[in-house]
Amino acid sequence: MREEAETLLHWYDHHARDLPWRIGPEARKTGVQPDPYRVWLSEIMLQQTTVPVVGSYFATFTTRWPRVSDLAGADDAEVMAAWAGLGYYARARNLLKCARVLRDEHGGRFPGTEGELLKLPGIGPYTAAAIASIAFDVPATVLDGNVERVMARYFAVTDPLPGSKEDLRRLAGSLTPDRRPGDYAQAVMDLGATICKPRNPACGICPLMPGCQARRQGIAADLPAKTPKAPKPVRHGIAYLARRSDGSVALERRAEKGLLGGMLGLPGTDWAENCPAPNPPFAAKWRAAGEIRHTFTHFHLQLQIMTIESDADCALDDHADLDPGSLPTVMRKAYLQGLAFLDNRVEEPGKG
Ligand code: ADE
Repeated sequence: MREEAETLLHWYDHHARDLPWRIGPEARKTGVQPDPYRVWLSEIMLQQTTVPVVGSYFATFTTRWPRVSDLAGADDAEVMAAWAGLGYYARARNLLKCARVLRDEHGGRFPGTEGELLKLPGIGPYTAAAIASIAFDVPATVLDGNVERVMARYFAVTDPLPGSKEDLRRLAGSLTPDRRPGDYAQAVMDLGATICKPRNPACGICPLMPGCQARRQGIAADLPAKTPKAPKPVRHGIAYLARRSDGSVALERRAEKGLLGGMLGLPGTDWAENCPAPNPPFAAKWRAAGEIRHTFTHFHLQLQIMTIESDADCALDDHADLDPGSLPTVMRKAYLQGLAFLDNRVEEPGKG
């Protein structure tokens, strides 16, 4: 084993973060094995989402669906509602697909190799490596943003990402040990999250400092270099909030494919760089209730909210007991803005 891996494992033995899905180093040494289902679920949730946000979602999912076979048998709409707020909803649709493939084709068990894991819906190279190493102690090379940063600094890779990714993968592979690879993978991720942070790396307390090339050259905080991204475009759209006298609100389930696929939302126009023509769910005297903003991965959205109190029949789902928490974040913002307006808690735009 390389000295760096030895050092990191020793550091992890004393400083591992206590995470709800983790079997800590002490327990692991006594033979406790992680549950692949919990490892998989946490890794999918942690993609593009932070540890503090994931905590309560992980608790909800594992309480309601304690095993992968429970999740496989769950109602799609319930799972989508439980996922609401985590974003990137294709992850939730693939989660269900994957659970069902495991139930139907793998006897409800996760395969233990990267190659087999990669064939499952929603499992890419990062997740396959993370599950293989953390759940099955296979020496797979786990490369996420944290690991990329640690490697770029330790080896002073100044070429920018994403071009340098394969270099970083090779370097990460060169440190991965055969012994305790699962703990090692989590150790590098923890180091990246708590010490080798994107800004203000805490080099003074870093166990890898003695060999760190970027630290020696005084460039640790500048790495990894990144090729500048094009600025995000702004898109515009209109969403419609129709409330009936019983308090129910007209909602529609979005198409399976595409942004927020399969999620509930307010009806509305497409979102485009030029504001689309109005497209209300039914003809009425809609009132402008202001605008909300939301940023997605590839664009900023400015969404105009139109409201009406009406008992007109419309073909959409009505949800009297709607829990705004079951809406994706952008729709929750739109819904709350519209309600605030209808309840006279915000001024009509252009007035006052
Ligand atoms: N970030 C994503 N997965 C992680 C893990 N297993 N341990 C620590 N940080 C993580």
